[in-house]
Amino acid sequence: MVEDDAFTAPQRLPAWSALAAHARRLASRPLSSLFADDPGRAKRLSLTCDNPAIPGEPALVADFSKQALDDAVIADLIQLARETRLDEGIHCLFTGGKVNFTEGRAAAHMAMRGSCPPPSGTGANTLAMRAFAFALRDGKLTGSTGKTIRHLVNIGIGGSDLGPRLVCEALADLYADGESPRVDFVANIDPRDLGAVLDRSDPTETLFVVSSKSFGTMETLANAEAARQWLRDALGADADLGAHFAAVSNEVKAATAFGVRPTRVFPLPDWVGGRYSVWSAIGLPALVAIGGAFDEFLSGAWAMDEHFRTTPFERNLPLWQALVGLWNTDFLAIETLAALPYAHALRSFPAWLQQLEMESNGKHTLRDGSDTYVNTAPIVWGGVGTVGQHAFHQLLYQGTRRVALDFIVPVGDDDPRQRALVDNALAQAAALMAGRSKEAARAQLAARNLPAAEIDRLAPHLVSPGNQPSTTLLLPRLDAFHLGALLALYEHKVFAQGWLWGINPFDQYGVELGKEMARALAEGLTDAQDASTARLAGIAEGLRQ
Ligand code: F6P
Repeated sequence: MVEDDAFTAPQRLPAWSALAAHARRLASRPLSSLFADDPGRAKRLSLTCDNPAIPGEPALVADFSKQALDDAVIADLIQLARETRLDEGIHCLFTGGKVNFTEGRAAAHMAMRGSCPPPSGTGANTLAMRAFAFALRDGKLTGSTGKTIRHLVNIGIGGSDLGPRLVCEALADLYADGESPRVDFVANIDPRDLGAVLDRSDPTETLFVVSSKSFGTMETLANAEAARQWLRDALGADADLGAHFAAVSNEVKAATAFGVRPTRVFPLPDWVGGRYSVWSAIGLPALVAIGGAFDEFLSGAWAMDEHFRTTPFERNLPLWQALVGLWNTDFLAIETLAALPYAHALRSFPAWLQQLEMESNGKHTLRDGSDTYVNTAPIVWGGVGTVGQHAFHQLLYQGTRRVALDFIVPVGDDDPRQRALVDNALAQAAALMAGRSKEAARAQLAARNLPAAEIDRLAPHLVSPGNQPSTTLLLPRLDAFHLGALLALYEHKVFAQGWLWGINPFDQYGVELGKEMARALAEGLTDAQDASTARLAGIAEGLRQ
């Protein structure tokens, strides 16, 4: 199906033209006015994904009513999904079709949470990894001196870091028991990253997990070698360093050549992409940190998989996320998407989403090899609320740019600060939609009994145009199940957008270029460099102490 040449670029489809007409029709409509005379708008433009484990409690509620669209737009966005035959795409995804059409592979990360049969190939079985992780979590592993391993350091980058790091940051304290090992993450080749962790580590109790699907990523290998030297310096040249390493990689020979015991090299299937791999053996550190709750994490993703696979387009939450994102990008010319998680535990979520969205859909070449004429992935950025309100929200209120906003809001308990956190998220979405008119500004100043001249002078500076479109995602709480559902929601949004745009969300040829350039610089091949880079490399050499 995906390989067929009956592909039509989306802008050539009838629904695309209808959507362009809608954009013209709505161009001058203030967002707030879309609620006027339409008391049912909020309910109509909200969707839920059920939680099969708790009947009556939704796993997730998504309110799209603060988006700059109306029912007619939604209808034609859904029509676009039909005209691109997204139903076939979803079937292809869940039945092991080669949706990764440049590398000729399936993308069946959902199989790791039981949502579809695993395609052929190794790595689907995580039993050995799970046994190892639980032995480590239960204090049954010892280092070369016989002391119990109590500290895991994951060395990996990109998808071999961001997913497990997010899960551990979000959940480790919820599921830690008194004895569970400490879990740290090192990603950057900057010596300060690994150094900071080693400075507070005991080599006799530390185990390094080298997470690298390719076992060829420069940063990861450099850090793994530095960690090995640190162990050797501390434990002696004759120490059995194999007791302090494990690896998650498909390159078993390379990993064992490095010194990892063959029984501690855990593969992941080639049909699981790096940025979709937290559900696989890459999730090892998360399993150590949260133990059996990892299965709840998988269950939450399974619930979202089932919703995406079986729910009609009209009520399909990941599809609406995808369609609304396409509407903002391609019809409202909104260049960026801000991920605003209102939860300290989700402070790494924007970084995880950046890789998922920008490495998946930051592309311009279509299924048929031609270049796209429409914008694809937005620039994803963000920050945790309420901290962002005191950092970048000013630009959202009074800057010159329109920004799409995803408020991600776990409701949680009745602690007054937790309640204030949720209230702030709802208030920000409302205020950024409504803005403040010049009349309202003047009234506010008049209420302070300021002289008329002062009111005239200040009022323009208090105006906030509003009209910032947002989606609010409410989760009952942030636990393993709901985090799994949230991450799967965005995975399916990204797949659906890739399908709609006609690009491949599962390869990443672009980043290879940067790696080649870095290797050339490292080898001192400055004659291959442009004049600016060669000169800068020379200056850097001179400045190096
Ligand atoms: O950024 C490029 C990339 O290949 C990502 O897709 C991947 O998650 C990361 O580098 C790490 O790759 P590996 O797991 O092979 O070290």
